[in-house]
Amino acid sequence: MHKKLFIPGPVDVRQDILDAFATPMIGHRAKDVMTLQERISDNLRKVFHTENAIILSTSSGTGLMEGAIRSFTAKRAVVFSVGAFGNRWAELGETNGVPVDKVEVEWGNPTLPDVVDDYLSTGKYDVFTITHNETSTGIMNPVEAIADMRKKYPDVFWLVDAVSSMGGVKIDVDKLGIDVCITSTQKCLGLPPGMACASVTERAIDYAKKVKNRGFYFDFVTLYKFVKDKPYQYPTTPSLPHMFGLDKQLDYILNVEGLENRYARHAAMAKTAQKWAVDNGFELLAGEGYRSNTVTTIKNTRGIVVGDLGKRVGEKGYLLSNGYGSLKEKTFRIAHMADRTPEELQAYLDVLSAELKTL
Ligand SMILES: Cc1ncc(COP(=O)(O)O)c(C=O)c1O
Repeated sequence: MHKKLFIPGPVDVRQDILDAFATPMIGHRAKDVMTLQERISDNLRKVFHTENAIILSTSSGTGLMEGAIRSFTAKRAVVFSVGAFGNRWAELGETNGVPVDKVEVEWGNPTLPDVVDDYLSTGKYDVFTITHNETSTGIMNPVEAIADMRKKYPDVFWLVDAVSSMGGVKIDVDKLGIDVCITSTQKCLGLPPGMACASVTERAIDYAKKVKNRGFYFDFVTLYKFVKDKPYQYPTTPSLPHMFGLDKQLDYILNVEGLENRYARHAAMAKTAQKWAVDNGFELLAGEGYRSNTVTTIKNTRGIVVGDLGKRVGEKGYLLSNGYGSLKEKTFRIAHMADRTPEELQAYLDVLSAELKTL
């Protein structure tokens, strides 16, 4: 039995998109592939709200995160972490020999602009990273306020992990002034895992050209060159199935559902999940104003065995998400992203409520 996925990625993928993945292969240097990559990039620009270049990567999002911290840091990067995926930025820096400082809050708290200001004002950094939506804690960081503060430091490059929010929450990349914004296909975009996408500013690429040891596969300068100088090619062999699927799904997102409706659906599902948690005697890990629209992290204040609840709902055909890492059993998560409908979420919550009574 296929369990309905209520984990924060991978997500359930519509059958018409899975069918697009089965399109017969064509030569990856064929003109049709360049046209396909150009159309995907034009449509992704609408989803990212940007005029910047779009980079595709045959990898999950971590690949482009690794490429970004390595390609754009000449001096030192400061990583603002609010959970497991914030910490990943620091690990990526450390394991690639990139000098990084990590500023980590107690999990459940956001990154506040004043803290970022304190670090950027030292003049020590040429890069800072923010996790837009921390999937472990269910925190959505206040990127508008961070962007306002950041106007004082236009020369520091801003890298954003939007892996679990892009396509489900409006992130106005150009208005915010984000230099590199990264997402993965298996979250809010509603595709299988295996491709990552990013927007990147030309000024960041110009700076990266001076950075040594950018690596090969995830070097942003090379990836950029292939979309700018050789219109819409990919340096190596891309995942063509992802490109077929992404093309179809972007048409659905932009022209069938519409971005605003998609954002509103995610926001409404978040409210439903939050209310369910409180109504059932739990607390939310994230404070008011910082709660994610795509994943709700619930504190296990009732002291249930989350693993047991997972087994029970599993028998009913659902995959529950336990807490991440050190938050396992202390929290559990309800994902409400991609093409999940409010009705499907309600059906899951009803099953959760019923099974909770049996624990
Ligand atoms: C916020 C966040 N950042 C980064 C990642 C890593 O992305 P990927 O698994 O696509 O490499 C994830 C994956 O769950 C994530 O949720």
